[in-house]
Amino acid sequence: MSSLRILFLGDVVGEPGRRAVIANLDRFREEQLVDFIIVNGENAAGGRGITPRITIDLLRAGAAVVTTGDHVWDQSEIVDYFPTEPRLLRPLNYPPGTPGAGSVVLETAKGRVAVVQVQGRSFMQPPLENPFIAVEAEVDRLLADGVRMIFVEIHAETTSEKIAMGRMLDGKASFVVGTHTHVQTADDSIFPGGTGYMTDAGMCGPEESVLGRAVESVVWRFKTGLPTRFPVAKGSVRLCGVIADLDPETGRCLAVRRVSDLIENEAVEPSADQSQAP
Ligand SMILES: [Fe+2]
Ligand SMILES: [Fe+2]
Repeated sequence: MSSLRILFLGDVVGEPGRRAVIANLDRFREEQLVDFIIVNGENAAGGRGITPRITIDLLRAGAAVVTTGDHVWDQSEIVDYFPTEPRLLRPLNYPPGTPGAGSVVLETAKGRVAVVQVQGRSFMQPPLENPFIAVEAEVDRLLADGVRMIFVEIHAETTSEKIAMGRMLDGKASFVVGTHTHVQTADDSIFPGGTGYMTDAGMCGPEESVLGRAVESVVWRFKTGLPTRFPVAKGSVRLCGVIADLDPETGRCLAVRRVSDLIENEAVEPSADQSQAP
């Protein structure tokens, strides 16, 4: 059977980010022959969280799974929506009883694909259960269940925590990708045990920005220390992520390459998105 090609796109920031993602998923599928798309939507609603409407829009545009992160609960309406949509993930290492799930298995024409999201603990809020223990148990459960293609996202601040997660899962997971910093790393690789890896996918957000927010407001905050708002920046959007080819039989990663596409988008309307923290 031919390999399964996964496209993962990093944190979608605000209206410019989600417009560019929604407008380009079909192109990825057709031009890059992508079979399965995962999108991190934790900043899709004005930079803060995600709404049910935006989740539906991303799924309809072609995302198979939408993940989140530390901003998961920023839009309170998402809490009650979680139990209704298994393709929307929150970090796995929330305590038992938390709405939603951190893992999902979907059937594809090339076999079952599991997507797991976990949140790191170094410089991250809120402090969650140990992500290494949680992920190891979940991946072992999936393997015992016969799932071979297992894609793990670690939403974390530090490179060390993400690399350690990738190395721990080498030979078990098909791919481990990091998110949250919004800055893409150049270490896309395949570990000795066959697990593909990249420390951070980067974001899908305005190119001329500070992590997707308007430059002036963030610089002003750093200079003055005074409270301010951080509007989502405007202009052309860079779509950042990774494409990985997986062997459906073994789950091993066969190929990996970074995605960093600048989408010239003069037509994007000025964004009304406002928010308070990058
Ligand atoms: Fe983010
Ligand atoms: Fe985050």
